[in-house]
Amino acid sequence: MAQLKVLVVDDEPGIRSGVARILRSFHVTYPFMDENYTYEVLEAATGEEGIEIIDREKPDILLLDNKLPGIQGVEVLEYVKKKNYDIVVAMITSYASLDVALKAHDDGAIDFIPKPFTPQELKASIEQITKQQYLRRITHKLKVEGKKVRFQFLSVLSHELKAPLNAVEGYLQMMQERQMGDSISEYSSAIDRSLQRIEGMRNLIMDLLDFTKVSFERQVEKLQDVDMKELASLAVVTVSPYAIHKDIHFIKNIKACEKIWADPNDFEIILNNLVSNAVKYNRTGGTVTITVDCKDDEFIISVEDTGIGMNPDERAMLFEEFSRIKNDKTRNIGGSGLGLSIVKKVVELYHGVINVESIPDKGSVFTVIIPRIQVTNIKTEL
Ligand SMILES: Nc1ncnc2c1ncn2[C@@H]1O[C@H](COP(=O)(O)OP(=O)(O)OP(=O)(O)O)[C@@H](O)[C@H]1O
Ligand SMILES: [Mg+2]
Repeated sequence: MAQLKVLVVDDEPGIRSGVARILRSFHVTYPFMDENYTYEVLEAATGEEGIEIIDREKPDILLLDNKLPGIQGVEVLEYVKKKNYDIVVAMITSYASLDVALKAHDDGAIDFIPKPFTPQELKASIEQITKQQYLRRITHKLKVEGKKVRFQFLSVLSHELKAPLNAVEGYLQMMQERQMGDSISEYSSAIDRSLQRIEGMRNLIMDLLDFTKVSFERQVEKLQDVDMKELASLAVVTVSPYAIHKDIHFIKNIKACEKIWADPNDFEIILNNLVSNAVKYNRTGGTVTITVDCKDDEFIISVEDTGIGMNPDERAMLFEEFSRIKNDKTRNIGGSGLGLSIVKKVVELYHGVINVESIPDKGSVFTVIIPRIQVTNIKTEL
């Protein structure tokens, strides 16, 4: 139960006490609001007194008469606007000239409650105002959170891009100062490491490109019948240089009805990332099994490996941006920690879910489930 403060500024005592009486036992509920709203009514007989209470009590809702003995209602409204208070204002007036109405509207009054009003009319207005106030506050909160998340993302990103640059710069300086001697062969490990860091940086930039594509470039026209068998083969080909190096064996288990109505890029991103992880975090000589299955109401893609696995604590952060599991087994494996966060975003565009089951040192299974009913309802933005 949340309580909103309503300030009534009106020189007629009957109006003020009427509002207090009507709202005393009134509450508003709305399906998407977490809690019921009730009201505490504060009263002011003049604009001057109203401003004093506004400064002191910071009400949530202001019911404002325009014709007041001292300063007028519109001037109180101007004050609220100037101070940038988070207050929803409705004018209560017996008659309002068009000029006053327009000015009040310009200054942010969202409703006009004509006097005299019935309890039902007042309750209907208060209900609308409460919803508006709730939405305003929720939107503001989401914007602030969005800014925070973007800031965190950018600071981690700059760090991730700066680290390899610093490393390569260090190695180049070492060569410039001939720290290990005059022969180029003395520097081969520095050169190898520099190349590795540059490759890591390139992968991060490629991930970032995927990330922005997924976030901003959604186009309904790109949707088509996507052949999962083809995409699974493509993912295997893409990762094959690395897979051959680690002697990884692939099993493809693609069941009937493999086509899905989608943007092929999206499913390429899903498969490429899951298959590349299954190879990267596998043991030498391990197996990767790619399964695509189709039930009446859902598509299921799963990628299983026989690799290092992870424990439940490690699993918890897996889908967040830049999150990498740090232990002895992953120390020498490169990556940006963006892959699975991108996969999760793509899966959610299709109203799907991604799950992981894993046993340390035995392996992991990543399963993506996409409901079939989503095909006409793919989100075009995140
Ligand atoms: N199949 C897997 N087996 C074990 N651990 C895994 C597996 N897949 C992912 N992980 C763990 O989850 C972390 C996050 O994976 P993610 O794909 O997001 O990033 P990454 O592989 O580190 O980098 P990249 O952005 O290049 O994909 C990895 O660093 C790894 O620790
Ligand atoms: Mg990865």
